[in-house]
Amino acid sequence: MSLDEHVRRPVTDFATDWDHTDPAWVEDPYPIWEDLRQHCPVAHTERYGGAWLPVTHEMVSAVAHDTQRFTSRQPVMVKFKPPEDFAPAPVGIAPPISSDPPFHAIARRLILPAFAPGPVNALEPEVRALCRRHLDELGDERVFDAGARYAQFISPGVIARMLGFPDEDQDRFRDFVHRVLDLVDLEPEVRGPLMESMGEYFEAQVEDHLAHPRDDFTTYLLNVEIAGEKLAREHVVGTMVLTLVAGIDTTWSAIGASIWHLAQHPEDLARLVDEPALMPVAVEEFLRFYAPVTMFRRAKEDLDFFGCPVKKDDWMTVSFPAANRDPAAFEDADHFVIDRAHNRHVAFGLGIHRCAGSNLARMELRVALEEFLARYPRFELSDPSAVTWAAGQVRGPRALPLRVVD
Ligand code: HEM
Repeated sequence: MSLDEHVRRPVTDFATDWDHTDPAWVEDPYPIWEDLRQHCPVAHTERYGGAWLPVTHEMVSAVAHDTQRFTSRQPVMVKFKPPEDFAPAPVGIAPPISSDPPFHAIARRLILPAFAPGPVNALEPEVRALCRRHLDELGDERVFDAGARYAQFISPGVIARMLGFPDEDQDRFRDFVHRVLDLVDLEPEVRGPLMESMGEYFEAQVEDHLAHPRDDFTTYLLNVEIAGEKLAREHVVGTMVLTLVAGIDTTWSAIGASIWHLAQHPEDLARLVDEPALMPVAVEEFLRFYAPVTMFRRAKEDLDFFGCPVKKDDWMTVSFPAANRDPAAFEDADHFVIDRAHNRHVAFGLGIHRCAGSNLARMELRVALEEFLARYPRFELSDPSAVTWAAGQVRGPRALPLRVVD
């Protein structure tokens, strides 16, 4: 049995015993959230040591903005709640995503220049070339897995380039991301060792960059200073891990979900092929409708959250995907509207932790779709039942079998 197949207790009531790795949730979480929105807008589970799940835009926004009562110290929910002296606040394990104020602003300011429009736009020709290379490899094949053969390659290629990691290590990166974000419901004694070999890989990369400095984000992190001092080694490694984890699964999932949608909605596909200028607007709707990223906070104290008795250390879900489907926040929330005019979606988060890589993500998603559609103006799912979705807090298709239509 693989680690993905270990036995999970099935969920029978998502209001009182929810689990984001349950097969029903993994396959289609939207009806679950809609049902909760109507009956119990803050669900609870004893799993993972106690976790809350608010599903309205108002509540998601309240958590994301409340850095007084919630810490980001451990943004991935697992079955292990480390003690407070493990990667303590305000720095946390992977700055800035795990950092709280006031340190968060310092850690974030350091990384923002790398993700500004200038450097991101400069990467676009390379991303386009990367997409074309993978499409070329598909040759004349008419039936293929667009997840395994296309979507999964775009973001790892970009991140390897940014961090200055060997391109040929991309399989490893996907494996790391799988360990961090998908295998979240393993027992601590099984999950712990999976993280150790990852640490060794990053340490080796740091050593290599110290010995051979070059023009990349890793070397930048090793040299940049806060108040005249270089960053602590754990800070450098933590931000490297964050860049890899935040930069790969997220965009891969968004690209895959968009292709999955287009394979089933020929009218949207035709519109994008005929009106390429619509792509940036469509990208925002793909991000709203299929927002891939959910985050977690932990309560710093016993507190009342919209009437719920939250205990110190409980997990609090920040479901940006659920907020994006809330009818109180979006007209026709449950419909994909390719030319939606007003779209203040929260796929990239809200508040101080709002995605630092959003320029890069948008560019990768747009370019990956532009290139795919230029090559395949018509396609459909070849086997809808064979589509699989990643479990955990980043959601997107993994197996995505398509047939090109003539
Ligand atoms: C479609 C793709 C992406 C989505 C939907 C997404 C979504 C998010 C969300 C929701 C957050 C907020 C986390 C929180 O509130 O705790 C976040 C934070 C972050 N993202 Fe992204 N992300 C994407 C791609 C990327 C990429 C490509 C990178 C860079 C390589 C990146 C880097 C970051 C970083 C560094 C943070 C932490 C910011 C902070 O704590 O101040 N993301 N992302």
